[in-house]
Amino acid sequence: MAKDIAVPELSCVPVHVGVIMDGNGRWAKKRGLPRKFGHKEGVKTFRAITRRAKQLGIKYITFYAFSTENWKRPKDEVDAIMKLFEKNLDEVKDFIDEEIRVRFIGDRSALSESLREKMQNTEKSSEHFTDTTMILAINYGGRDEICHAVKEIAQSVKKGELEPSDITPEMITERLYTQDIPPVDYIIRPSGEMRISNFMIWQSAYAEYYFTDILWPDFTVTDFDKAIIEFGDRSRRFGGV
Ligand code: FPP
Repeated sequence: MAKDIAVPELSCVPVHVGVIMDGNGRWAKKRGLPRKFGHKEGVKTFRAITRRAKQLGIKYITFYAFSTENWKRPKDEVDAIMKLFEKNLDEVKDFIDEEIRVRFIGDRSALSESLREKMQNTEKSSEHFTDTTMILAINYGGRDEICHAVKEIAQSVKKGELEPSDITPEMITERLYTQDIPPVDYIIRPSGEMRISNFMIWQSAYAEYYFTDILWPDFTVTDFDKAIIEFGDRSRRFGGV
């Protein structure tokens, strides 16, 4: 599908794009359907945008699929999302055929054994691809991630391996799930919400943002192209002048 749409001329492509998939519930509600239908439709968008990221030459794309706070949702919705993860990992062969590396970030300990096993197998079978890496954030929370890094550093201090005055921001970066992944340059959030919701809060220190009212299931490859074209017009100074 996405292959039929010409790839636009791009002056500058972000190295790492983050996507907060939002608006699935509202999409379903507008149609009088249970929320889980919105998530099912959202997966189609997720697949199309991942493929497009590769066509546009984006090296890393991270999707916020399930946060550490999302467990508060009704059980049938959580179950439906977990089922979608499993089903899509079974079908992830498509991404492997397209030579897209798949990785996961987040706390896996709360996930089912079978899901964890599929995640590990998928990572393993795609680890040799180098053009585009798709990262799925599952049971992910930015504060949780930073807290985990701080605990590790505190252990080193306790053991006398490190002085508190020697702690650097790099030491935190090196202890995040994304330790070997560049910081996020551009965060796209559809559905009209303008907040970060605990998504890569450390890695996004200098990120640009793109907000649109379109609900995630309605977000098309052309909408994605438009967002990426706009990134080329942003002037990033990283605190300089
Ligand atoms: C936010 O919309 C969406 C989520 C919390 C879940 C996103 C999950 C998927 C798209 C399925 C993931 C599966 C794969 C394989 C990627 P919302 O429910 O908060 O929408 P609302 O704001 O309209 O209520």
